[in-house]
Amino acid sequence: MPALEIPESVPFRVDPMRWEDIAEVMEIERRAFSMPWPMRAYEQEILRNPNAHYLVLRPREVRTTGLVLPSPRLPILGYGGFWLVPDEAHISTIAIDAPWRGRGLGELMFLALVEEAIALGASLITLEVRASNLVAQNLYRKYGLEVVGRRPGYYRDNREDALVMSVEHVRSPTYRERLEALKAQLWVRLQSAGPIPLHRSGAN
Ligand SMILES: CC(C)(COP(=O)(O)OP(=O)(O)OC[C@H]1O[C@@H](n2cnc3c(N)ncnc32)[C@H](O)[C@@H]1OP(=O)(O)O)[C@@H](O)C(=O)NCCC(=O)NCCS
Repeated sequence: MPALEIPESVPFRVDPMRWEDIAEVMEIERRAFSMPWPMRAYEQEILRNPNAHYLVLRPREVRTTGLVLPSPRLPILGYGGFWLVPDEAHISTIAIDAPWRGRGLGELMFLALVEEAIALGASLITLEVRASNLVAQNLYRKYGLEVVGRRPGYYRDNREDALVMSVEHVRSPTYRERLEALKAQLWVRLQSAGPIPLHRSGAN
C-alpha cells in the first residue's frame, strides 16, 4: 500500500508499479519523453533494484456507455518513481499521459512520491529537470524544491542543461504543514473530476 492516503471522494488511486504494468507505462513513456527509457530499464528497476520505488496512477473506476463500473483493467494515466539512498530520495521519473495533464494529476503523482519517500525515511528530495521544462519546475517549486545546481549539456538529444532541484528537511513539522495544506487544496480540486471515460479519445 502506498503511503499517501487518498480520500474515497477523489476518483483516482495510486498503486505500486508491478511488472505487468510496464508495457502500459512504456506507451506513456514513449509519448512523454524525447529520450524514453527502454523497457528493460523499468524491468531492472522493478525486479532488481531494491532502492527503487515506482508508483502508477489510475482512475478508481471507468465509465462505459453511461454505466459506471469498477473495472479490473483500469487504465494507467501516469507514473513516477525514485531511488532512495540512504535518506536521499532522487526522483528518477514522473509523467502523466498528455490528455490527462493540467488537472492536478501530476501533482497527485508527485505528492504520492514525496509521501512514499518520507515514509521510507527520506529527509531530502532531489531531481534533475530540463532547463526548458517550466511546467515541471513550477510543480516542483510548489513543493518547495529549489534550484541548487546545473549540469551543462546533461541531456544527450539536444545537449540541454539539467537543473538540479531539491528540498531538505522534508521530515520537519514545517514541511509537514506545507504538505498537508497542499494536500487539502488538491483533494478539493480532484473531487470534482467525476468518473473517467474508458476511451482516451474522450478525455479532451
Ligand atoms: C510535468 C507533469 C508531470 C505535470 O503534470 P500535470 O498533470 O500536467 O500537472 P498538474 O495539473 O498536476 O499541475 C501541477 C502544477 O504544475 C505546474 N503546471 C501545470 N501545468 C502548467 C502549465 N501549463 N504552465 C505552467 N505550470 C504548469 C503548476 O505549478 C501546477 O500547479 P497549479 O495548478 O497550482 O498551478 C506533466 O506535464 C508531464 O507528464 N510532462 C511530460 C513529462 C515530464 O516532463 N516529466 C518531468 C520530467 S523532470
